[in-house]
Amino acid sequence: MSKLAILGGTPVRTEPFAVWPVISQEDRERLLSVFDSGKWWYGERVKEFEGKYAAFQDAKYGVSCANGTVALEVALLACGIRAGDEVIVPPYTFMATASAVLKVNAVPILADVDIDTCNLSPEDVERKITPRTKAVIPVHIGGLPVDMDAFRELAQEHKLALIEDACHSWGSKWRGKGTGAIGDCGVFSFQMSKNITSGEGGIMITDNEEIADTARSYTNCGRSKGGAWYEHHLMGSNLRMTELQAAILLGQLERLEEQTLRRERNAAYLDSLLWDISGISLIRNDPRATRRSYHMYIFRFLQEEWSGVSRGRFLEALQAEGVPCSDGYTIPLYKNPLFQQTGEGPRFCPISCPYHGQPVDYRNMVCPNAERICREACWIPQSVLLAEERDMADIAQAVIKIWEKREDLASA
Ligand SMILES: Cc1ncc(COP(=O)(O)O)c(C=O)c1O
Repeated sequence: MSKLAILGGTPVRTEPFAVWPVISQEDRERLLSVFDSGKWWYGERVKEFEGKYAAFQDAKYGVSCANGTVALEVALLACGIRAGDEVIVPPYTFMATASAVLKVNAVPILADVDIDTCNLSPEDVERKITPRTKAVIPVHIGGLPVDMDAFRELAQEHKLALIEDACHSWGSKWRGKGTGAIGDCGVFSFQMSKNITSGEGGIMITDNEEIADTARSYTNCGRSKGGAWYEHHLMGSNLRMTELQAAILLGQLERLEEQTLRRERNAAYLDSLLWDISGISLIRNDPRATRRSYHMYIFRFLQEEWSGVSRGRFLEALQAEGVPCSDGYTIPLYKNPLFQQTGEGPRFCPISCPYHGQPVDYRNMVCPNAERICREACWIPQSVLLAEERDMADIAQAVIKIWEKREDLASA
């Protein structure tokens, strides 16, 4: 095996991986037809996309939004979450999962994740439940469905709203049912990096008509179903999606199933090539997770096995071999400056929240598994998994090369 590319050797791969997003001539035509129609805002295409996407995830209703962050806020409000309510979220996720809770004046409570799946631990959630807990937001990290059996049971027993942050899990299924459609509602993002994208965009899906109608009202300036245009019932906002976004998404949705199957096949093949390297740990699969979208392919870098090579150095070496990769979320949510503020009271807890000015202190919080995953995780982006089997073999070869030459890397 040749010298490591980072040390001046020949890279395993020089050919770039596919660019994202994938677009077709039909997508261009669809977009132009909106352009020419003169109707650019919430209309037939948005309604068509809402219906098709909800059905794709096995839900009855879809309420589109400007992005996934506001879709989470809308979901919380539509599920009846109010000022001072506690909502349990994981610390290994994007900030929006927790900031949406703060935005509705509720209090995010962090529970730890499972070390082998990176997903919220139902056991730790149960430990964090108090009489003020009103909802839980599990996140299907990287597209691996969380244990929805356990979360449904917990939600039922403690009368909690179960809101799925499905912003990584378009097309994922738990026991054959689409993620986002299993809890009370679920939320998806269509931001640029996502497996289906319109640059920005989001949707909330649900089987519950009341939740759907309330969510629609929040996204549509507080208007009600069948009400007059200038009649406003709720303190909503304008969070509507445009026809241009919906036209793009309709094209993307046509490819999503095939792309998901391809990512899943390639990820399984990659697993089979990497599983016996003792320096890395793969994500544990769950046979009840019957489909995984693979927003990213995650594995953990086990520092103690690498003769002094750090994760950062390993990732640099992997990039030098031609494999796109990153370290993902490097700190758990509660270590963000937002939660570590010093000074008078928790400024982030808004005035209408009963916790305002009281010591809700995240500074001593520790979720050991999330912290470990933040130190160890390596992410390969979803678009890489759209390549061929032989490209997966290149990725594995690059990891194996670095593993076998770790002493050279450590001493360089
Ligand atoms: C887990 C998770 N939740 C929520 C969001 C928010 O979505 P958006 O960027 O569309 O606002 C994201 C976006 O990256 C995410 O990864």
